[in-house]
Amino acid sequence: MLLLYFSIASILDLAYADPPNRLCSNNSNYTDNSPFQNNLETVMSSLSSNASVSKIFNTSTGIDPDRVYAQYMCLNYVTSERCSACIAVASQDIRHLCPGDKEAVVWEELCQLRYSNQSFLGSLDVSGNIPQYNAKNITNPEDLSLVVNKTLSGLIKKAAFDPSANMYATEDGPFTNGDSFFSLVQCSTDLSPNDCYKCLEVAIKKCYDLLQIVSWNPRKRAQLSWRSRISIIDGIAKGTLYLHEDSRLRIIHRDLKASNILLDNNMNPKISDFGMARIMEANECEANTARIMGTL
Ligand SMILES: *[C@@H]1O[C@H](CO)[C@@H](O)[C@H](O)[C@H]1NC(C)=O
Ligand SMILES: *[C@@H]1O[C@H](CO)[C@@H](O)[C@H](O)[C@H]1NC(C)=O
Ligand SMILES: *[C@@H]1O[C@H](CO)[C@@H](O)[C@H](O)[C@H]1NC(C)=O
Ligand SMILES: *[C@@H]1O[C@H](CO)[C@@H](O)[C@H](O)[C@H]1NC(C)=O
Ligand SMILES: *[C@@H]1O[C@H](CO)[C@@H](O)[C@H](O)[C@H]1NC(C)=O
Ligand SMILES: *[C@@H]1O[C@H](CO)[C@@H](O)[C@H](O)[C@H]1NC(C)=O
Ligand SMILES: *[C@@H]1O[C@H](CO)[C@@H](O)[C@H](O)[C@H]1NC(C)=O
Repeated sequence: MLLLYFSIASILDLAYADPPNRLCSNNSNYTDNSPFQNNLETVMSSLSSNASVSKIFNTSTGIDPDRVYAQYMCLNYVTSERCSACIAVASQDIRHLCPGDKEAVVWEELCQLRYSNQSFLGSLDVSGNIPQYNAKNITNPEDLSLVVNKTLSGLIKKAAFDPSANMYATEDGPFTNGDSFFSLVQCSTDLSPNDCYKCLEVAIKKCYDLLQIVSWNPRKRAQLSWRSRISIIDGIAKGTLYLHEDSRLRIIHRDLKASNILLDNNMNPKISDFGMARIMEANECEANTARIMGTL
């Protein structure tokens, strides 16, 4: 698993959806008092104690087909106390947010937790990603996207291929107008260096696309031809169909409206949810992008 995160220091009062964020499989249920549920309870109740010792941890309990595999990861910089507290909350949230699910992931502010009825360690799966956008504006999106690309490209290589980095890298540096630019990438250490790199490449691409999108100016609306409009509508329909039918986990948007459709420089529509400030990469790979600002 991976986290990718950047923020601009001087603008902290941004409206982004508070964690937890979740991904529920919705396609397989366990029943009350089943062996699977008992195993899940056992695992979930023990994880916060492990989290006071380890920032990343995996375990499994029970025997097939009721075996529960679980893994959590805290951001590497958090203290053991905060890691443990985060996992304590996450292990409650995951059961409330995905009740009955045999597979689920939650992302809290400082940690993520995942369980499944099947083993998922060591395998990268970047399908089923859920990009999330923040509608907040920044005055200099072009500058930001250059800095984002440059900084994150370097960090990704470091995290993936520098053994001493152990799949974690951060950078703090000046941005413009006295602002600072903070970035962080982290893969879970069960991934191979190449898979970590791949996962982060997918995430940085999304970040970069996002910044292209947010630089798109509404004045361009006047230039929209009917041909582009039809192509946009077609794109939205394809996107919706993908979410419903083809993504690994079915996603029902439930709030599809004009303000949730973003256009990139090539007028390709992207379905988004303005309530959220995070890019979530489902499953093995999460890109977590808080406090992004751009002009819509
Ligand atoms: C799982 O349970 C939920 C809530 O009870 C129900 O809506 C859903 O249809 C069930 N899914 C399956 C695959 O049984
Ligand atoms: C994790 O927690 C469980 C339950 O407290 C404990 O039995 C186990 O030894 C811990 N594992 C590690 C690696 O700390
Ligand atoms: C996990 O649960 C799903 C749905 O019940 C089932 O299709 C799958 O075979 C299970 N996997 C394992 C390894 O038991
Ligand atoms: C962002 O900028 C656009 C155009 O300048 C403006 O219409 C919009 O209200 C701004 N959004 C926010 C959240 O400030
Ligand atoms: C981002 O940076 C990398 C390496 O510095 C470069 O190869 C790539 O072309 C850049 N991407 C964009 C979209 O600027
Ligand atoms: C799972 O955890 C054990 C320690 O409990 C560790 O030895 C093993 O390397 C971990 N596996 C992966 C794939 O991270
Ligand atoms: C699972 O169901 C929940 C609650 O109905 C919904 O919010 C979520 O989008 C669904 N997840 C997927 C992957 O379909």
